[in-house]
Amino acid sequence: MEQSAEILKWYLEAGVDIALEDKPVDRFSEKAPEKTAPRVSAETSASSGLTRPAETATRRGEATLPDANAIKTAQELAASASDIAALKEVMAEFEGCNLRLTAKNLVFGDGNPQSAIMFVGEAPGREEDIEGLPFVGRSGQLLDKMLLAIGLDRNNAYISNVIPWRPPGNRPPTPHETELCRPFIERHIELVNPDVLVLLGGSSAKTLLKTTDGIMRLRGKWTEATANSVSVKTMPTLHPAYLLRQPAHKKLAWQDFLKIKSALKYEATQK
Ligand code: URA
Repeated sequence: MEQSAEILKWYLEAGVDIALEDKPVDRFSEKAPEKTAPRVSAETSASSGLTRPAETATRRGEATLPDANAIKTAQELAASASDIAALKEVMAEFEGCNLRLTAKNLVFGDGNPQSAIMFVGEAPGREEDIEGLPFVGRSGQLLDKMLLAIGLDRNNAYISNVIPWRPPGNRPPTPHETELCRPFIERHIELVNPDVLVLLGGSSAKTLLKTTDGIMRLRGKWTEATANSVSVKTMPTLHPAYLLRQPAHKKLAWQDFLKIKSALKYEATQK
């Protein structure tokens, strides 16, 4: 009993904090699977038009291989959402991304969607997954302090992530997961249509600016991000989780936040 508790504690510390099945499975006693065509090909060939290829399997609670049809479905669903509430609904309905199988909640957004400023991070962590809200864990607490320092909070700023479901064990999202979720975050930005977009960290910046440049090269410089029909004044900056690990770099983030503050002031004069 004591040993099992120790093992569970060890798993938890390693970030493994969910059970995929109710009963344990002894994988060592299983025979190696015979090589067959990937299951997704059967799902895909059965699908036509608007049917969602990965859905039948995900409805059975099984993981599927991602495919191009799932990205097309995400694009169609995102485009069909005429407002923020509708976008949340279609995302909750989308079954093409396996991350939803291990996540507890869809982490859609928090704050005021009418704000002049929108912040976009990478993906929810453990606390965000539990609460269903972005940036509520340790890095969220730091983000709140950074917002406060330039006169912002969740009443006058809006916050979301590129990926709306927590990757298991906080692993980085795969490029395919990112492409599956891209239509949703791009539509989200288009619907909020902020004056200023802030990309928190390299992953968010690379995805939304469609670049391979690193965050140290991108941060602190104004650029434009395009999200469907809108082009938004954008500041890439350091992710609060990175700042918790590298506090000496907080001064760089502060320089970026001062630029953000001035831009907001300027945008307010233009209205
Ligand atoms: N890190 C992120 O990028 N997003 C969150 O919501 C929390 C941590």
